[in-house]
Order: sequence, then structure tokens, then C-alpha cells
Amino acid sequence: MKQAAAKHVTIGIGGGISAYRTLELIRLLKKNEASITVAPTKAALHFVTELSLETLSQNACLSLPLQTNNGQISHIEEAYQSDLIIIAPATCDLIAKMAHGFADEILLQTLLSFQGPVLIAPAMETHMWQHPATQANIETLRNRGVQIIGPDNGDLASGRQGLGRMASVNALFEHILSALTPKDFAGIEALVTAGPTVENLDPVRFLSNHSSGKMGVALARALAQRGALVHLVHGPLSVAIPELSNIKSYPVRSTHDMLEQVLELAANVQLAICCAAVADYRQAKIAQEKIKRSEDTITLSLVKNPDILARLGQTSPKPFLIGFAAETANLEINAKAKCQQKNCDLICANLISKSNPAFATDDNEVLILDQKGPVLHIKSQRKDCVARLILDTVHQRLVF
Ligand code: C5P
Repeated sequence: MKQAAAKHVTIGIGGGISAYRTLELIRLLKKNEASITVAPTKAALHFVTELSLETLSQNACLSLPLQTNNGQISHIEEAYQSDLIIIAPATCDLIAKMAHGFADEILLQTLLSFQGPVLIAPAMETHMWQHPATQANIETLRNRGVQIIGPDNGDLASGRQGLGRMASVNALFEHILSALTPKDFAGIEALVTAGPTVENLDPVRFLSNHSSGKMGVALARALAQRGALVHLVHGPLSVAIPELSNIKSYPVRSTHDMLEQVLELAANVQLAICCAAVADYRQAKIAQEKIKRSEDTITLSLVKNPDILARLGQTSPKPFLIGFAAETANLEINAKAKCQQKNCDLICANLISKSNPAFATDDNEVLILDQKGPVLHIKSQRKDCVARLILDTVHQRLVF
């Protein structure tokens, strides 16, 4: 099931040029199975049409104050049905009206009737954003619990560059999912390692592996959505890191870099998930010049890298520690032994086969074990669902 399934989101649109980007947000939420009502202001309808909004949302717009539907007052019904209201773009005028309780648009009437989470994505020229009146209104809304997303620096409607551009559609989407998720990891600081590490051979060549970082990023995202502060230590990733302020990214390359960064963070975290596909060996001596293609065969002299997970298992106080184990045979026996040897609380084991390659794919099948044996079998599904199920098991065992 998609994360936004069975959720109803009201999308308010103000009269700004970035309204065209909100169409993409509607599409993204629909793809994630949310039901949507769009409430454009009168000014918004100069920029986008009701036809586009209704086609994409597959629902009638709320655009007229005091609109009724089957004898029901629409803004009251919408406020009762909605799980979340997001306003994108939130113009200067709309922000001022929200701050002062105006109700001359159906969107504003709905907001006044609504008790749930409200997110706004301001978008305007830099000076309008920085004006003390706008900043005072933003402060009023923030103190009232409204979540302010952005604005970003970038291209503005005037052709100038500066602060005031509406946050990216992906950032809005991530914040919506986050706001819809119960915060059962609030107060937890977590460390997640993800992706491959890279060991240089010479200035242009390296040893690495096929890890995309998808599983680690899915875990970081799910933890952040559930309220944790996440330190994501990662090698080069093939996926984007979610634009959430409670995910801190620490890019590294080699296993040694990763170990150093992890040990620096370890003392402050209560939970550590080592998902990275760490290079087990490195070149004994990195060549200063490019290795020439003169010989028919060359020999690499490799030395063993430190085991980051095992090192974390020896720290005191030790965080609740989770490792990953990719095995090609004897999954249960090998994974249980690894859990014990590395002093982990849990191991997530993948049997690597043709049907479950696990590396660089969107799906994964996982057997969770503790030092005594199997705890939960997660059948093959999308890595973001697997991440949520792993965290459910962690939540049952982690002492808060
Ligand atoms: O021993 P093996 O490599 O199969 O163990 C995999 C687990 O150990 C993963 O959680 C991986 O992130 C971690 N690991 C590590 N440092 C290494 C090798 C593996 O943290 N050098």
C-alpha cells in the first residue's frame, strides 16, 4: 500500500507564477493514492485553470466562498474530511490573510474550520519575502503551528535570482508524507550508513560495488518521517536524499572515511543501522600516477578494511545496532552467526539469488534475526515498505 493511501489532502493554491508547479505535486500525490481536493484562490485561477486542477485531482475544485455540495457547506465538510492542508504557492497576500484570520476565500474559510496539520510553501520576490510585515506574519503562523517549507534561492518570476522561489515539488511531497506520519521515533537520534564505499587504485581508477544506497536511504527517510534526527553517512548514491531538515547528509568515499565519520557520530546516537555495502579490501598503496597499460597482467595487493559494524558493536554505550547481511547460502545460520560475532541487536539478512538480487533494485526480501534466531520474514516488496516494517520491529525493542 502506498504511504498516502486513504489520506485526504487539501491543496490550496495562491495567485503566483509557481502555481504551475503545484500541478506536478497533485500528480505525485495521486500516484501515491491520496485523495485530493484543490482550493484555488480567485487570483490562482489567473495562473492555472479549474479544468487542469480537476482533471489531475479527479475531484471538483473548491473555488467559490460559501459553495455548497448536496446541501452541505463545502468548506466545513472539507475541513472535517481533510487529513492535511498544504498551500503552494502561499503568496504574500494569502499569508497576511491567514495570519489575521480573513475568510474571503473558500480556502481561508476551510483553514479556519480545520484542526489538523497546515503546511505552506511561500513564493514571492525576495523583497516581499524579507519585508518586516511578511516576516511578522510568518512568525505568527509558525507560532500557531503552521509548518513553513522554503522558500528556496533560485530563479524568480522577475527573471532575477534570489530567495523567494517556491520549494521543490519533491520537498513538498516529502514534507506532506512526513506530516501524515505518526512520530513514534521522536527524540531518537539515529545513524544510518548507505551506499557503497570506494577504494582508489590510482588517480582515475577505483574498486567499488553495485550498491545504489536505495535501502539505506529508504531507512533514513522512514526514520525521519517518524520523527528521528537522522545522520546519513553514505558513499556515492544513485538515489536522491529526501529533502527533509531532519536528515543530515555526510558524504564519504573510502571505508576509512566512513569509519571515521561513524565513530565521530556514534556517541550521540541511540540507534545505528549499518546498511552500507562497505568495500572489504583496499589497495595497500594507492598509485600516485595512473597505472600504465603495459603489462598483460597486473597484480593488486589488497589489505583488509576495518569492519565498521563490528567496531560499533564494541562501543560503550552501544547504540541499538542493526547490520545487514547479504548471503548466497545458509542464510539463517550465517546471519545469526554474524549477529553474534558483530554484537548486533538485529541483522537484516538477504538471500541473494536471481529472484532477489537485492543490490540496486527497487524491491527487497528480508529475514530479520536477533542473536537467538529469526524474528520476522518480510516478503519481497518495495524497499520503502521493507524499511517501515524493519522500523516497526526496532520500535518494539528499542527502549525509549
Ligand atoms: O560481514 P559482512 O560484510 O557480510 O557484513 C555485512 C554488514 O556489516 C553490513 O551491515 C555492513 O554495513 C557491515 N560492514 C561494515 N564494515 C565492513 C564490512 C561490513 O560495517 N568493513
